[in-house]
Amino acid sequence: MCGIVGYIGPQEAVSVLIEGLEKLEYRGYDSAGVAFAEGSSIKFLKKMGKLTVLRESLNGHNYRAAAGIGHTRWATHGRPSDLNAHPHSDCTGRFAVVHNGIIENYFSLKEWLQLQGHVFRSETDTEVLPHLVEHFYDGNLETAVLEAVAKLEGSFAIAVVTSHEPDKVVAFRQDSPLIVGLGRGENFLASDIPAILKHTRRTYVLNDGEMAVLEAGRVRVLDRQGNEIIKGVTEVKWKAEQAERGGYEHFMLKEIYEQPRALRDTLSGRITPDGSEVVLDEVSISPEEIEGLKKIHITACGTAYHAGLVGKYIIEKLVRLPVEVDIASEFRYRQPIIEPGTLVVVISQSGETADTLAALREARRQGARVVAVTNVVGSSVAREADGIIYTWAGPEIAVASTKAYTTQLVSMYLLALYLAKGRGTVDPDEIKEIILGLQKIAGKAQSILSNSAEVKVFAGELASCRDIFFIGRGLDYAVAMEGSLKLKEISYLHAEAYAAGELKHGTLALIEDNVPVVALVTQEGTFDKMVSNIQEVNARGASVVALATDGLKGVEKVTGKVVYIPKTHPLLTPVLAVIPLQLLAYHAAVARGCDVDKPRNLAKSVTVE
Ligand code: M6R
Repeated sequence: MCGIVGYIGPQEAVSVLIEGLEKLEYRGYDSAGVAFAEGSSIKFLKKMGKLTVLRESLNGHNYRAAAGIGHTRWATHGRPSDLNAHPHSDCTGRFAVVHNGIIENYFSLKEWLQLQGHVFRSETDTEVLPHLVEHFYDGNLETAVLEAVAKLEGSFAIAVVTSHEPDKVVAFRQDSPLIVGLGRGENFLASDIPAILKHTRRTYVLNDGEMAVLEAGRVRVLDRQGNEIIKGVTEVKWKAEQAERGGYEHFMLKEIYEQPRALRDTLSGRITPDGSEVVLDEVSISPEEIEGLKKIHITACGTAYHAGLVGKYIIEKLVRLPVEVDIASEFRYRQPIIEPGTLVVVISQSGETADTLAALREARRQGARVVAVTNVVGSSVAREADGIIYTWAGPEIAVASTKAYTTQLVSMYLLALYLAKGRGTVDPDEIKEIILGLQKIAGKAQSILSNSAEVKVFAGELASCRDIFFIGRGLDYAVAMEGSLKLKEISYLHAEAYAAGELKHGTLALIEDNVPVVALVTQEGTFDKMVSNIQEVNARGASVVALATDGLKGVEKVTGKVVYIPKTHPLLTPVLAVIPLQLLAYHAAVARGCDVDKPRNLAKSVTVE
């Protein structure tokens, strides 16, 4: 999705802006641009395509700007083009605006502005903004921006510069993330943390309805009425290197290999020294509330939704409470029944996914207590939920989610064990056993990563196929869904996940000679049934790759291609089983020559509904 950067200070602004935009490339975009004051007008540099095209358009020219704004655009209103790229201008060419989000009432505003004589050049919703600022400007950019945003409906994070006041960058946030990076004698603006990490880790995280006024020597934050707000500084824990590829060919591969560290960090400080209990103070649920729980809803999108499916299985098993899992974009439109005693858990790596945020708000509107599982400190879901479980995965740059998923799984285990202890639904010895399993999981993940050569070979075979099926039962079915999503999003191969027992109710018709089937066989309880399912597809000519737990011998009798994962507590197998599937997707995508980190049509953080 779109990205915003802004800069003011002694460095050459255009270079700082373009470098910042490069750090936001992973979010997905189709055009990019920057704007900065030059004399009495604003200079705009905008190009369709990748940032390299924008860079080339500079022709080695060194602009001497001290302040400016930049943007990567992911088209919503109007096709990708130089003209539709941000920043956008007013009629005088003295104001420039970048915008993330959607202005829902832009059509009526545009008509009204046109009646006033304003001339529009682009097809975007954003262009109403510079014209509105021009309309309201009477010598003070801050008041003009406040008057302009008061007219808007929708979600927006904006940044504005004007040649009338070249020593200022003004920004406003409503339902779309925006942070200010605090430097020494210079200040930064960004829609996402990686853009500023190289310069500073001290930030102001803007809330909805807040405006930031950046000058080189100071930053003021104002409310909608223009009153100054005293903001606390949020220190970002991520390091600049974490947002670099660090010698790996792709961010996705780096992030897959970072999982042992991410798993350890997510567990760190959350288990008592004697290994008997989970400590989760930040979920902020009292013992009485835990006892009074009647139902749990989990809601999320994409990979995070798949983590929620595992969460349902684990929580129902350990806490003995009914759990419903919804895709967040469905949740609020299906009139969910939220009664007293309902806990809603939202899962979101970015913490900014519009559908998940909308589900969270709906849950709170109906009076539910909401716990957010998120990877981004200070993100919207973190700030709006009643309680939080942070996944300490570090920045996830590749569009395909990997370390976020496994740390979300760990968060699900921690939550389930915490609630189980509070409700007395699991024997303390079993709690200890699962905790011990969690403590050993990072080491086992590492051993999978260190012995993954055969996965690459199988991936090479998949790369030329048309359709691929993933099958499993119970927890394995939930992981199969994640394996299938991973493969299709980065390799563009058609993949489907099925509950293995469901094949015979229709899908078996699609199995013919050499159709690849990835069968997950990690659970002893369903081992025999899965072996029968493998035989069913074998009988129709399928080429089966099995993913089995070490010790569950006998899978070789039904297929010659088996990837083993180390033995662990049966409830914990998803954390390990997904790793070969991530690698399978990665290597298949590389073999097919795909843009692994930035798959077509997808964005990392989906901030529009
Ligand atoms: O940031 P979120 O976890 O809320 O993102 C949810 C999905 O958009 C995300 O998991 C998406 O499905 C990934 N591309 C999957 O790899």
